[in-house]
Amino acid sequence: MPLIVCHSPKGGEGNSFVAAGLAQGLSLLGRDVVALDMTAADGLKSYFGLAPDQSLPDLEEEVIDQLTVGGVGLRSGWRAAHQPDFAEALRAGDLPFDGETVFVADVASTDTGLAQVLRRRARLHVCTLTPTAMSLAQLPRINPARALGEPERTTFVLNQLDETRRFARHAALFLRELLGDKLIAQIHRDEAVNEAVGMLQTLARYAPASAALADMERLVIAVDGLCAGEAADETVRAAPRAAKNEAA
Ligand SMILES: Nc1ncnc2c1ncn2[C@@H]1O[C@H](COP(=O)(O)OP(=O)(O)O)[C@@H](O)[C@H]1O
Ligand SMILES: [Mg+2]
Repeated sequence: MPLIVCHSPKGGEGNSFVAAGLAQGLSLLGRDVVALDMTAADGLKSYFGLAPDQSLPDLEEEVIDQLTVGGVGLRSGWRAAHQPDFAEALRAGDLPFDGETVFVADVASTDTGLAQVLRRRARLHVCTLTPTAMSLAQLPRINPARALGEPERTTFVLNQLDETRRFARHAALFLRELLGDKLIAQIHRDEAVNEAVGMLQTLARYAPASAALADMERLVIAVDGLCAGEAADETVRAAPRAAKNEAA
């Protein structure tokens, strides 16, 4: 199931920025991608150069004219996710999370229940942190030890890294030691991220040579590789079952 869930334990970490960057980067790699805003704040579109008053088509709506930016389809999953039967629909496979399309879901930090439900069906969970005391204070809530024990599905991104700041340097070292290769990327703090939103442009268009975009490209490669690895593992896990069914 090509669902990538972006969920951080705290707001303001850059979860939406990372979700948007992943969707855009995976699309550039040739994947068919839908960026799914599951938040009430509806901020994902800002990283696609869209204006605040642009509404996104609903996930379950039949749309004739898809809203796409740079090849990425944009949908809102907020209404669908808050229907009472959402978890059941997800379990039953009634939602369009099968097939070749990669869905990158941006889930609000406060929506931990939804994040949990989605993570069960996701190929990957990307958790964005920042090198700040408030972000590190959330670590017991994520329970990295348990996350690390899960079958390779929770990964971490350190965003808004400014190595000129002492605390940020130390926090980055600490997180690298704690998370090991679960920390799949670092993204530098870069004013171009904010400026691009203000200019109603994507980061790639506004600042193609920016540090944050180069970092994001590395994250995209890592995520694409992990998703491909997971897909291969799923095939291997499914193969003995298929063989058994054929024999029966
Ligand atoms: N790497 C970065 N460098 C500079 N500013 C960033 C970076 N990542 C995110 N931001 C800014 O931080 C703020 C929060 O980002 P956002 O993606 O909305 O966070 P979240 O979804 O976790 O609440 C926004 O103003 C955004 O432009
Ligand atoms: Mg957000």
